[in-house]
Order: sequence, then C-alpha cells, then structure tokens
Amino acid sequence: MANILAVETSCDETSAAVVRDGRYVVSNVTSTQEAIHRRYGGIVPEVASREHLLTIVPVVEEAVEQAGGWPAIDAIATVYGPGLAGSLLVGVNVCKGVALARDLPLLGINHLEGHVYANWIYDEASSGEPPEFPVLALIVSGGHSELVLMRDHGNYQLIGQTRDDAAGEAFDKTARLLGLGYPGGPAIQEAAEGYPHPSPLPAGEGTVRLPRAWLPGTHDFSFSGLKTAVLRLVNSEHPRDDGWTAGVAAEFQRAVVEVLVGKTAGAAEELGVRSVALAGGVAANKLLREELERALQLPFHCPRLWLCTDNAAMSAAAGYFHLLRGDISGLDLDVIPGLKLAA
Ligand code: KG4
Ligand code: ZN
Repeated sequence: MANILAVETSCDETSAAVVRDGRYVVSNVTSTQEAIHRRYGGIVPEVASREHLLTIVPVVEEAVEQAGGWPAIDAIATVYGPGLAGSLLVGVNVCKGVALARDLPLLGINHLEGHVYANWIYDEASSGEPPEFPVLALIVSGGHSELVLMRDHGNYQLIGQTRDDAAGEAFDKTARLLGLGYPGGPAIQEAAEGYPHPSPLPAGEGTVRLPRAWLPGTHDFSFSGLKTAVLRLVNSEHPRDDGWTAGVAAEFQRAVVEVLVGKTAGAAEELGVRSVALAGGVAANKLLREELERALQLPFHCPRLWLCTDNAAMSAAAGYFHLLRGDISGLDLDVIPGLKLAA
C-alpha cells in the first residue's frame, strides 16, 4: 500500500491531495482563484503565482492532516509542466523542500498525464474498473487538445493534436465574444442548455450554422475557424437577444463536440484500442460525455466532474504508477512550462 501526496499549481488552482494505490482518494483540498481572475476575464499569471504562494502551505497541511499526518505519506508528486512558469515554480519548490526535509521520493508529473489518470481513480458510480490498455485518451483542456495512445502505464504516443486553439480555449474565447463570462466552458454549456438543434434564430430567420474543420486524412483538430465564424456573427447586423446568444452557444458547442467525437471514434477504430478515456477540463462537458458514449463501440471512461478540471488527486494517481516503476525525480527537477506528454 502506498499513499502519494500530490501538489498541483500549474494554473489557477492550488491543490493538494493524498491518493492510495493510485485509485482511492484519501484527501483532496483545492483553493480556487476563479473569482479573482473572473474580474479580468482570464488568468493573470502574476496574480496566479502570488495567490499560490499565499495558499500553498495551508492547502498542503490540510491534505496531509486529513490523511492522518506526515507518517502516512510514502512519496510526493509534483506537477512540473506544462503550465504557467511562475505558478509551477511555487508547487515544485514546495515539493522539493518537503522531499528533502522528510526524505520522501520525489515524483515529477506531467499535468496532462495527471488529467488522463483521473480515469484510474475509483468511481463507485461506474463499473469501478480502470481503463484497459491499449487506451486512446482524448485530452481536452484550456491549453491542449490531443489524442494520445497509451499502450501501458507511462507510455504515450501522440496520434493527433490541435493545429491552433485548444478546445477549452475555443470555449473561453467564444464565451467572451458572446458576453457569457469566464470560464467559458460552463457558461456556454449553461446558455445552450435545452436549446434545440439545429439552433433556430429568433423570428424564424433560418438556423445558425458554424463550420466543422474535419482535416481529412489526419487525426488533428482546428478550432480557430469556428471562433472567427462566431466573431463574424457577433459583428453582423443581426439584433442580439438571449435567444440568439443561446442559439449561437448551442451551435458552437455542437460543432466542437461533433468534431471531437468523430475524430476520436475514427482513431479508436483505426488503432484497434480496447478502451477510450476522456480527460481535461472540457471532459466536464455534458454533451461531449453523452455523445462520445453513444458513438463508441467499446468501453468508454470519463472522470467524475470534480476530477475533470484541475485537481491534485489526478496527479497523485499518476504518481503512484511512477513510484511502481521506479521513475523517481532528482532534487534538480525544474519546471518546464511547455512540457510535452508525447511526441
Ligand atoms: O484542465 P483545465 O481545468 O485547465 C487546464 O489545464 O487548462 O481546463 C480548463 C478548461 C477551460 O477552458 C474551461 O472553459 C473548460 O476547461 N471547461 C469546459 C467545461 N468545464 C470546464 N468546457 C466545456 N464544457 C464544460 N462544462
Ligand atoms: Zn488542466
């Protein structure tokens, strides 16, 4: 049995968690900065790192205390990239200090790997079994959109990726264009809720239709054209009201989901994988979860909602498998803001 303490400060959540055997959440404490950054309509990196500095020690102490104190901790996992340099530095330096002072193995975790391992955390609402290898992971977050093949633990092969905006970034930018606020994903989902498809414009003026970039012959994505098309709609002469905004939000969400589902189902079939796992903040999207489940002919895993957006529990789960295979980091571990998961 091994309890892994993980610390996650890659973006705007200060989070610490203890997870047993890569599966069972013992504690998870997160301090979110969402309300602070909402005032600016996005994340301000300098503000984020200062907030991490203020909250990291009490957050880590709380997570450890809930797990039974320091003697219960067997190793410490730290997210060293990708993310904001100033934010990552706070978590990594705290973890290095703890590893040295308490003589604990240090495990360097890729943030995207953490997102994928959210699927290994036990969920009493599902079958309880973790994904079976080979796994095709669709990682969709604020900074990344990637299809990654996992043949085994720690083994990642890039199958496809976005050529411009990440899916979450497209949600955030479109929400801003529509005046729906930050973060954009939940705001668009809520505005689109219950809206029929295809989305009618008010007063029977036809339907909203946005482009889908299929990029045939590749497993890549592109979302920037979609954002430009929304901008064109926003700048058009059309009178705007709540119904119009809901219609555009619904069509935008539908366009993103159709492409993500179509590409994932196509790659899964071509690669002959045994399961598909959804990961990253956009994995919280209800339509995406439902449509993927419907389209796939094989076992489909998605984390519980609180495990989709940034949290340390997912990184602790990933850390357990690093420990199992002896993948221990040195105290010279440095942050890598542009760290890649797979090539
Ligand atoms: O993984 P995450 O918490 O942070 C990064 O690593 O980037 O992902 C944040 C992203 C944001 O772009 C946010 O708008 C999006 O996830 N997101 C959603 C939903 N909840 C969060 N996108 C679509 N639908 C949602 N329900
Ligand atoms: Zn993330």
